Amino acid sequence: MKKILITGGAGFIGSHVVRMYVNKYPDYHIFNLDKLTYAGNLENLKDVENKTNYTFVKGDIVDGDFIQKLFEEHQFDGVIHLAAESHVDRSISNPMEFIMTNIIGTVNLLNAARYIWKDNIEGKRFYHVSTDEVYGSLGDTGFFYEDTAYDPHSPYSASKASSDHLVRAYHDTYGLPIIISNCSNNYGGNQFPEKLIPLFINNIRHNKPLPVYGKGENVRDWLYVLDHATAIDVIYHNGSIGETFNIGGHNEWKNIDLIKVLCKVMDKKLGRPKGESEKLITYVTDRAGHDLRYAIDSTKLQNELGWTPSLQFEEGIEKTIDWYLENQEWLDNVTSGNYQKYYDEMYGDR
Ligand code: NAD
Ligand code: TYD
Repeated sequence: MKKILITGGAGFIGSHVVRMYVNKYPDYHIFNLDKLTYAGNLENLKDVENKTNYTFVKGDIVDGDFIQKLFEEHQFDGVIHLAAESHVDRSISNPMEFIMTNIIGTVNLLNAARYIWKDNIEGKRFYHVSTDEVYGSLGDTGFFYEDTAYDPHSPYSASKASSDHLVRAYHDTYGLPIIISNCSNNYGGNQFPEKLIPLFINNIRHNKPLPVYGKGENVRDWLYVLDHATAIDVIYHNGSIGETFNIGGHNEWKNIDLIKVLCKVMDKKLGRPKGESEKLITYVTDRAGHDLRYAIDSTKLQNELGWTPSLQFEEGIEKTIDWYLENQEWLDNVTSGNYQKYYDEMYGDR
């Protein structure tokens, strides 16, 4: 049985990847390593927690000794590394958490993998999940390609850029079998309601202001989270060692246009008069260093590995809104902080 370590599996994207792997690969044992920061929520994985090919490990990737011991104990065959501090606004107010987890944490994992795989790298893989934000900001035209020069602007994107460089350096210097992907903005169920889409869905539901940064003209390229998880699966299994793949949906939206779609669909779902939720839009001071536009070219992934996004945005956003409306308890637990008790209830004696 192959042992795969997935880091950050209690978070938004990680929980979708863990679920997919546990269900799809009964011959893999999936270890989910997560510190359970504010963004980690084991309620995301209730449906797989009792599967025999799944083990949750609570731990911090910044703790190098702990990571080394964990790798020695389990001798993982593969790593899919998603654990990170991931919210740009938090990186602006508290950059050190991002430096520690995203950079030092990644290096601890690289060192441990290098150590246990030193005599045999056959079939081993270290897959580092990264973001398109490392490429910086585009003007009105053009796309990010795999060879676009890095130009990060926020402490978040700079810490992810740094980790990408280190992952490549461990390949070039030590021959570590790495793969990297850089993905555009994800949306879908289980996302912590500090990111634009779940925050605004929750605020619309509670008739709270929708804080639009600047003029709302910034553009993001949105991909449904399950399409990202599928891309990760395809790249992990079929991507060549040392390669980088961009993942994106060719689905660019100006923030204000996207917010108006959210308002329109929510009006319909909540039975409000047309235009009611749009009244909540409130323009606020722009984010410092706010990147204007992200847009991914994922032709390489499409041509080499045959991946394409499965969902049109209209369908994806409808599914996403439905998920938050049907999972109000999840949202309430997250916004009240109650979800943090779940670990103690489930795993308190460990
Ligand atoms: P998230 O913030 O929802 O989840 C991060 C997870 O990592 C949480 O479960 C958290 O508890 C865990 N974690 C944080 N610090 C840790 C530490 N020191 N040790 C162990 N676990 C720790 O993030 P997400 O949105 O799911 O993103 C996952 C990965 O995908 C990140 O690497 C992010 O950079 C990347 N990514 C995200 C997006 C996006 O739109 N969300 C897009 C492209 C790439
Ligand atoms: P976010 O979801 O934080 O993702 P990222 O900054 O990583 O792209 O933000 C998406 C876009 O929405 C970004 O341009 C910032 C903007 N935004 C707002 O206008 N208001 C908000 O309250 C938030 C959280 C984001």
